[in-house]
Amino acid sequence: MGSGAREHAIAVALAQDPEVTALAVAPGNAGTAAVSEQLGLDVTDNGAVVDVARTWKADLVVVGPEGPLVNGAADAVREAGIPCFGPSAEAARIEGSKAFAKAVMSAAGVPTASSVVVDNPAHLDTALSVFTPPYVVKDDGLAAGKGVVVSGDVEVARAHALGLLAAGHPALLESFLDGPEASLFCLVDDATVVPLLPAQDFKRVGDDDSGPNTGGMGAYCPLPWAGEGLAEELVARVVAPVAEEMVRRGTPFTGLLYAGLALTSQGPAVIEFNCRFGDPETQAVLALLRTPLSRLLLATATGTLAEQPAIEWAEGSAVTVVVAAEGYPATPRLGDVITGAEGEGVLHAGTRRRDDGAVVSSGGRVLSVVGTGTDLAAARAEAYARLEPVRLAGSHHRTDIGLKAERGEVTVPVAQG
Ligand code: AMP
Ligand code: GLY
Repeated sequence: MGSGAREHAIAVALAQDPEVTALAVAPGNAGTAAVSEQLGLDVTDNGAVVDVARTWKADLVVVGPEGPLVNGAADAVREAGIPCFGPSAEAARIEGSKAFAKAVMSAAGVPTASSVVVDNPAHLDTALSVFTPPYVVKDDGLAAGKGVVVSGDVEVARAHALGLLAAGHPALLESFLDGPEASLFCLVDDATVVPLLPAQDFKRVGDDDSGPNTGGMGAYCPLPWAGEGLAEELVARVVAPVAEEMVRRGTPFTGLLYAGLALTSQGPAVIEFNCRFGDPETQAVLALLRTPLSRLLLATATGTLAEQPAIEWAEGSAVTVVVAAEGYPATPRLGDVITGAEGEGVLHAGTRRRDDGAVVSSGGRVLSVVGTGTDLAAARAEAYARLEPVRLAGSHHRTDIGLKAERGEVTVPVAQG
């Protein structure tokens, strides 16, 4: 279920998987249509989700985006007796409510930024005065990665918080976490936690991390600047304690638990949890996966993850670069014709096929172009070479995905004193 480049990446992995006999994507995009059957679906309608899964006789439903999960799609599918990869609505609150995530982390002893929720504009200035710049102000609900402002200017922080409050959304103020970010995806089946390769996402729209936050403009994996044991350390310190706390609360997590972390001078700290695969990191991570994906998803969905052998990965690196529509992340221009997007490694996100056969843009993030190679430099070179023939009027992409890591310029800060 879903219609982004993440779902196209999952669909490509499943289409190449010898253990998959039939594959459909609902509602999909112009890219998923090339590798799978397309099923019409309003993903916000759980009854329709169950009908589609039943009619199609699905053996496994994989839910891509957070919206349906928070809305109980996985519960509905499981209640219909069909295995589903994705957490219950209760467990999806780890992403759906930042306040809930903070409460779980606090109970589990997992480090994260200190925070205050403000739900009344009259309390904003007092709350802000507790923090020092840079200020971090977030929407306390689902915001597709665009509800966050990080600014050294208190007026910018105030204005964002007031805007959220005016729209009826509580604002979450947080202490700033220094250090490079990492995304760790883990398959979670109750207390069993199996990490995938650590990745790094690029949230800002422009090169050198300039401009506003987006849903993600590119990613690479693994992280050459991190030690070999990073994933295991993060599982032990962060993800396993949270999975255990969810079990203890009677709302065990099943599916993909994504920890977005800052590797700070004080150790790893959680920026956010997501209840599903990340976009665009998935496009890079799955490019290196060698174990059949269906086996991992089905084992997670049916409670047998602990019995699976170690995951196998290709050597080397993967890079993905997002091609965004003009105007993204504010108001993207839609309906522009896309050409040159048939090549290898080109994944579709906001695309649709017009009646005349042309593929046109239908979302802010339009394509994700993936390259792999023996190292990060080779993977970067392949991704940018594959992007070369792509044409979309007004589009933009970052030219520096993975560049600092390639140059050895990413380091975890060292504690002072
Ligand atoms: P989120 O939607 O919570 O993942 O935030 C989006 C982006 O904002 C993150 O990937 C970070 O780049 C930045 N960010 C969020 N919270 C913090 C924080 N407490 N300290 C530093 N950067 C943050
Ligand atoms: N890569 C950011 C997200 O999927 O939320």
